[in-house]
This record gives sequence, structure tokens and C-alpha cells, in this order.
Amino acid sequence: MSSPALEVVEFLLTAHVYNENRELDENDLPPRYRRVFWAERDGDASDTESDGVEPLGGVERPLSVTETDAQTATGVERPWEAVSDLLFTDRTEFSGTLSFTQPEMALEWFFKSADRDRLVTNPTLAFVAEGRDEIDVSHEEAREQNRPIHADRVWIDSLLEAYFDTDDEEGDSEMLDLVHVRAPEEIEMTLDDLVLTADQEGEIGKIVKAIEHRDYLAEIGLREIGKLLFVGPPGTGKTTVSRALAHELGLPFVEVKLSMITSQYLGETAKNVEKTFEVAKRLSPCILFIDEFDSVAKTRRSDEHAALKRAVNTLLKSIDDISLIRDDVLLIGATNHPDQLDSAAWRRFDEIVNFPKPDRQMRADILRVITNRMDIAEFDPESVAARTQGLTGSDLRMVLREAVLEALTEERMSLTQADILDAVEDFEERDNLKNMDMMDDSDSLIAGNGESPDADHDHDHDHAHDHQH
Ligand SMILES: Nc1ncnc2c1ncn2[C@@H]1O[C@H](COP(=O)(O)OP(=O)(O)O)[C@@H](O)[C@H]1O
Ligand SMILES: [Mg+2]
Repeated sequence: MSSPALEVVEFLLTAHVYNENRELDENDLPPRYRRVFWAERDGDASDTESDGVEPLGGVERPLSVTETDAQTATGVERPWEAVSDLLFTDRTEFSGTLSFTQPEMALEWFFKSADRDRLVTNPTLAFVAEGRDEIDVSHEEAREQNRPIHADRVWIDSLLEAYFDTDDEEGDSEMLDLVHVRAPEEIEMTLDDLVLTADQEGEIGKIVKAIEHRDYLAEIGLREIGKLLFVGPPGTGKTTVSRALAHELGLPFVEVKLSMITSQYLGETAKNVEKTFEVAKRLSPCILFIDEFDSVAKTRRSDEHAALKRAVNTLLKSIDDISLIRDDVLLIGATNHPDQLDSAAWRRFDEIVNFPKPDRQMRADILRVITNRMDIAEFDPESVAARTQGLTGSDLRMVLREAVLEALTEERMSLTQADILDAVEDFEERDNLKNMDMMDDSDSLIAGNGESPDADHDHDHDHAHDHQH
């Protein structure tokens, strides 16, 4: 169904129809086209909407299509060659602009060649299709499926740039180093790549529905929703599931490690917390992911600086103030140490999702996912699963990586079950070493007992060490 001519005509038609119909907006353009038409805006072009800051760029009419644009948008090597035979196309030699001599004819031709699948991914053309009988597709349906512009990388960057003085003010650019923003298109692992417990699937299903129907929830006054806490040991998929959710929902993913925010400059911490939530609100709808949530509880317990206490209170208050229903921000906290969270923090989440270490069945499933594209002779995931009790998804990935690298040292690109079992053994040995290390560490912790009023104790120690040659 796809041909270079069809690809190029679709692109040209989209630009044409978009220009003709003012009621269409950026969200009617497929992301692959939008990227091509994105242009920086002049700083003072203030066609701003209600709440102030707008990104420093956008898609502006009239759209015109050069051969290079068409090539980037469609992937067709020689766009003009692909359509020059058609009677309704034209090229301006000098500017390299492609256009239609007879748009009506182009439409006829397109609707004869295109199928429904194509139109569902192009709201602009679905808009036209709705008024014709060739293909049964609604504009609304296509628009709903289309990824909105606020999920595009260019949009995110340009919004951040507009809101935070990324060049001038030192504090702001530093802030953007602490907060990592991912566009959904940049997230590689999807929910399909993850093996979830029934409980996790249930919670994720609920939140997806809640986001879909947030207008309804607002209407009936149900606002206590959209604050999740993911709890479980390292390597059980808390971060990856959160990101996959952003991918699934087409939302930008704002990620911050709480320990990073608090360890920098004590005096700045409260401000950093506020800014983090500001970034999320500016990018909304989005997911705000706060990792290492327990690092707050820790600082709260030790009676350290007043600045830290202020920061903690700011954090708790910011969580109270943000809402999925009102601000379109889904908040996900994650912690490896639920025991260190005090009730003040705990209370603020309306769903707790448990991330346990995978059981045997899950381990087998995870192994299948990881090895999906690997060539392994006599592979028996069940028996590997039986041998790997206590290992997390992340551990299993590491095992497979070692097996692959080990085989590569022998120039082998196909593995055997034995390679994997060897790698499991190696992993367990290394894991034992690591645990011995941890015992040492905890000994020294007991000696210092963590109660020392000198918060910089460790740091000073390291420092002294540096000078001891
Ligand atoms: N349930 C799972 N299913 C599939 N892969 C998993 C699972 N849990 C962990 N992994 C793998 O381990 C990696 C690390 O997990 P991560 O999300 O960083 O864990 P956490 O945030 O809980 O420490 C993931 O990228 C993924 O490849
Ligand atoms: Mg993590």
C-alpha cells in the first residue's frame, strides 16, 4: 500500500490542507511532519495563551515544502522524482519548493491510494476524509491517537528554554542539570518489555484509565488520585516501569533524584524542590518521577540543618499542592527503603505499588524477554530461573550480558545454555564479594553510628586520605 509517491503526496497534501483550514492546530500534524515544520519563534512574538510562558518555537502557517523537507519527513530519497510523473504536482526550480497545481486532483488521487491505517495516523487528512465517502475515518479518532506536540523533544526543549534562563542565570541551568527530562519518543523500553506482577498490572491499568478520564474524575469531585509510590529493592523495575508508562501515555518524563537535590547546597535545596515541581507543572501533562524518595526521610530524622528541614517541608507541601486532576501531573515516587520513610511522607501517596524480587515464574519470563533476540542453543529459561532465586530483573540482565561478552571473547555470537549457567555462577561469586564488602561497610557504620553531629565526617576522612601519599 505504501509507495514513495504516496508518501510524498501525503506530506504535500497535509501541508496544503493544514494551510487551508485554520481550525487545525499543531496536534493535527503527525509528529514526523511536525518536526520538519518546527521553527524558532522571535522572542517578542507574544501570541501567548492564558498562563504566560510559551515555548520559543512552533509550527506557523503557511507551511511550505522544500524537497529537503519532504525527504526528511518521508524518508524518500528523491521526493521530486517520486511524484514528477503525476499530473498535479509542481516544483519551483529555484527554491526547490514542491506544490500542487491542482489540489483537488491530488486529493482524489490520494484517497484512491490510501487506506484507513494511513488516515488514522494523520488527523489533518482524516479531517478531510470525514467529509468524503472513500474511507470511513473520523477526525476525532485520528486526533486522539496522534501524539500531542507537548510530547515532542523540540517542544520540551523550547519550553524549558523559555521558562528557565538556560544561558544566563547560573541557578537555572544548574537546576536543569538536576532534573532530567525525557521525551516519550526517546524511551526505549516499553511495557511490553517488562514482566509485571498481577498487582502491578492492576495499578498501571487503573492509572492509565484515570488519566484517560480525568475530566470525569474532576466532575465527580474525585481528586485523590495520581500519586503513586513504587516500593522495592534495587533492580526490580521501578524506574523502567515509570518510564515505560510515560512512553505508553505519550507524556514527557521528568526525572529527579532526591539525593541529588539535597546533597548540593543546603541553602538551595528548598528552592530546588520548588523548581522541580515548577518544571513539571510547566511541562504538564507529564509524569514527575522522584527517585530515592527515602533520602528525605533520612535527613528528616537526623536533626541537621534547619535548611534541610525547610526543604523537606517544602517537598511535602509541593506534593500536597500538585494534582493529576488539576495540574495534569502524575507523581511517582520510588524508594528502595520503605522502612526509612516516615508517616508524613507515606501518607501523601494514594497508591503504594509493591516491586518485589521476581519469583521463579517471573524470572523465567524476564529471561525470555531479555533473550528475545539472542541465539541460544538448548535454552531452558525455566531451569535458569530455578537456579537464580533472589536475583532481580536487573541482575538477570547482567548475567546475560556477561554470558554474551564471555562468548564474544571466543568470537561466538551464539550462546548455549551452559554459557548462561556459567554466567550465573560467576554472578553469584561476585555477589558474594559485594556482600562481604557491605558487611565491612556496615561495621564501620556501627563504629561511627551515623549519629555523629559532624555531617561532613566521611568527606573529611576521604580528604585526609587523599593527602596521605
Ligand atoms: N520486571 C522486570 N521485567 C523485565 N525487566 C526488568 C524487570 N525488572 C528489572 N528489569 C531490568 O532491570 C533493569 C533495571 O531496572 P530498574 O528499573 O532500574 O530498577 P529499579 O529502578 O527498581 O532499581 C531494567 O532496565 C530492566 O532491563
Ligand atoms: Mg531506579
